[in-house]
Amino acid sequence: MGTADTANKDLTFSLAEKKPKVVFVLGGPGSGKGTQCAKIVQHFGYTHLSAGDLLRAEKNSGSENGIMIQNMMNEGKIVPSEVTIKLLQKAMVESGKDKFLIDGFPRNEENRAAFEAVTKIEPEFVLFFNCPEEELERRILNRNQGREDDNIETIRKRFKVFLESSLPVIEYYKAKGKVQEIDAAKPVEEVFEAVKVIFTPKVEESCWCRCVIL
Ligand code: ADP
Ligand code: C5P
Ligand code: MG
Repeated sequence: MGTADTANKDLTFSLAEKKPKVVFVLGGPGSGKGTQCAKIVQHFGYTHLSAGDLLRAEKNSGSENGIMIQNMMNEGKIVPSEVTIKLLQKAMVESGKDKFLIDGFPRNEENRAAFEAVTKIEPEFVLFFNCPEEELERRILNRNQGREDDNIETIRKRFKVFLESSLPVIEYYKAKGKVQEIDAAKPVEEVFEAVKVIFTPKVEESCWCRCVIL
C-alpha cells in the first residue's frame, strides 16, 4: 500500500475516533455563508471550515492538483470530492477541535455521498441561506476580495451549478427533516438574529416552569 493511502486511512481513523459534530452551511454564492460563519464562531465556539477557502489555499500552495482546481474554479465547476474531502478531513484533524461549520460543502450529490461513505459523519443539521439571485449577483460583484471567479461570466455559471447540483442536496436533507432555512436577503445583523435562534440551546418548557416555581 502507498504512503498516500496510509495517510488517508490515518485521517479517516483519527476522525472516526473523534466523532465530531458537523453542521453543513449551504446557500448560493454570495448568500453570506462566510459572513455568518464568522459570527457563529465568535458566539458559539464552532470551528469554521470553508471548502472554497481550503481549495483556494491548496491551489495557491502549488500542489499537483493546483492547476486542475484553478480550472474548475474558473469555470464554476465542482472539484472531485476526493480532493475536497481530503482537505476537509485534514483540516478537521489538525484543528484538534470537535465542532465544525462546514461551509460550501456538500455542493453536489457526489460530494454528499462520498463524505458520508468516507467519514461516516452525518450532519447535525444543514443551515441553508436562501437569497434571490439578483441580490447574490449584487453582493458578489461588490465583494472585492480579488477572487478570480467573482466576474459576471463565472458568476452566472456558478448560479447554474448551484441550481442544478447544489439545490438537490438541500432537498435531500429537507426530506430528512434536517434543513434550517434562513432568509438571507436581510441585513447581516437581522440574518444573524435568525441564526442565533437556531444555535441557542433550547430550554425544555417543563424545566423552565419547574425553575420558576422553585
Ligand atoms: P458566501 O460565503 O456565501 O459566498 P460572503 O459571506 O462572502 O458569501 O458574502 C458575500 C458578500 O456579501 C460579501 O461582500 C459580504 O460582505 C456581503 N454580505 C454578506 N451578507 C450580507 C447581507 N446579509 N447583506 C448584504 N451584504 C452581505
Ligand atoms: O464556496 P466558494 O464560493 O468559496 O467556492 C468557490 C468555488 O470553489 C466553487 O465555485 C467551486 O469551483 C469550488 N468548490 C468546489 N467544491 C466545493 C466547494 C467549492 O469545487 N465543495
Ligand atoms: Mg464563502
